[in-house]
Amino acid sequence: MRERPERLNRLPEQYFTSLLARVSAAAAEDGEPLVDLGRGNPEVGPPEHVVRALTQCAERHDVHGYAPFSGVPALKEAIAVRYGELYGVHLDAAREVAVLPGTKTGLMEFALCAVEGGGTIVLPDPGYPDYFSAVALAGATHVPFTGFDVVADAMYLNFPSNPTAATVPDGLFEEAVQWAERSEAWVLHDFAYGDLVFDGRRPQSFLAVDGARHVGIELFSMSKTYGMAGWRLGFAVGNAELVRRIELLQDHAFAGIFRPIQEAGIAALTGPQDSVEKRRATYERRRDRALVALEGIDAQSEGTFFVWFRLPDSMTVERLLVEHRVAVAPGEGFGVRGAGWARLSLAISDELLDRGLERLHAALA
Ligand SMILES: Cc1ncc(COP(=O)(O)O)c(C=O)c1O
Repeated sequence: MRERPERLNRLPEQYFTSLLARVSAAAAEDGEPLVDLGRGNPEVGPPEHVVRALTQCAERHDVHGYAPFSGVPALKEAIAVRYGELYGVHLDAAREVAVLPGTKTGLMEFALCAVEGGGTIVLPDPGYPDYFSAVALAGATHVPFTGFDVVADAMYLNFPSNPTAATVPDGLFEEAVQWAERSEAWVLHDFAYGDLVFDGRRPQSFLAVDGARHVGIELFSMSKTYGMAGWRLGFAVGNAELVRRIELLQDHAFAGIFRPIQEAGIAALTGPQDSVEKRRATYERRRDRALVALEGIDAQSEGTFFVWFRLPDSMTVERLLVEHRVAVAPGEGFGVRGAGWARLSLAISDELLDRGLERLHAALA
């Protein structure tokens, strides 16, 4: 009677909710103010012209009803133009673009739209924890990515990766397309940090690889590129059949996205882009500082706003939190293969980052 349905019971503990609770509890304890390098929440919002587009649109009296369920066509066009200009990918805006209320939603929708209950989905391990949730909600089973000899119905990829901050290895996207064709499986590439790459690298879209749009979709998020995480706006682009399925699901579950948010999205995508480079360069500069502070520790970051590092044998994330008053995200929360590692975030002011890095340096040296 009124028992919680099995599909909810299957969901893993929400990693970031638990992490936040643990860090808040530690922050409330006596001692030095805690420095939180555990969260991945962009610290700078979108440029002014984007906020202005939102407020100006919100003042119109004709924008408060339901927006078109599948999104404003000009917004789809704007993302298609960006893909053409920046990633060398030509999209049919009407058929190959779905507008999402944030890409987190798209991660869930992909599993629901691509795989039957009982199917198998390959996940990066370590990988973004919500992939595990998506698989569980779809009633599927996950297996860790260990190579392309795996038998499965779908695969999640994520480059640059949260949490490992690695960019895509040469040839991996091509192998993924071949695997998907061979296996009659679907691929989702999560491109949430696509524009945040370092050391002269260029953003690499999965869809730029031959055949990719026959086997999968890519998720593009406004959250990281434009600092719009709270606005909830993103896109699923690529395979027209998957885009149609996602729009079908959204027609039933949602009723579009507030029009001023979509108009501001158009302003972000089509207006001046200097804020994107500024953001990218800021994270690269902070990444450099972090790698200096972690000298002697196995640490890496080729993109995103994270650094992934190995904890010395004697150290734990809990000890860093309690004894050294610095919070980082424990690696095992990203999958069993993340054990012994941790993720620190660069999405924090320079001043706080420096304080946190000093404490990490002292704790890990
Ligand atoms: C790898 C990855 N994918 C997707 C998301 C979700 O982003 P959005 O804000 O577009 O829902 C995040 C957010 O942190 C992320 O780190």
